[in-house]
Amino acid sequence: MTVQVTITINGEPVSRDVEPRQLLVHFIRDTPGLTGTHWGCDTSNCGACVVLMDGKPVKSCTILAAMCEGHEIRTVESLEQNGQLDPIQLGFHERHALHCGFCTPGMLMTARALLDENPDPTEDEIRMAISGAICRCTGYKNIVSAVRWAAEHEASMRQEA
Ligand code: FES
Ligand code: FES
Repeated sequence: MTVQVTITINGEPVSRDVEPRQLLVHFIRDTPGLTGTHWGCDTSNCGACVVLMDGKPVKSCTILAAMCEGHEIRTVESLEQNGQLDPIQLGFHERHALHCGFCTPGMLMTARALLDENPDPTEDEIRMAISGAICRCTGYKNIVSAVRWAAEHEASMRQEA
């Protein structure tokens, strides 16, 4: 048995017949060009699969695609706009906040959601926000520093605009 599901991903409606048990992470990754969302533990522990659902971070390995009918999903591929990296991406580059990169898509989307809600987070608030994501190789110090870098530069970009 399959069900037809339409989900808006990065502003584009994507329709597909799926098994009711299909996870959102697989729905996303089966969409051409959208393999940036990583699939790690499959047990809601690692946070590599985080995407934004209606602006809130969710672990896409713990949500059925069919539950997302009519919702807006935003993945890591949406961060770069018109050739411009998102301040979060620039922050990770500036502060050397990734090594293997496996956790990075989830970290970036988690951080994006944090700054959308709280543009000037403290170190403790950043650590709390990313506490559902595991990085096994960079260490969290640089990731926290990258999010602070993004917060500071995003604020100055807003003033210039
Ligand atoms: Fe979703 Fe690890 S793959 S939390
Ligand atoms: Fe390797 Fe985080 S950069 S797991």
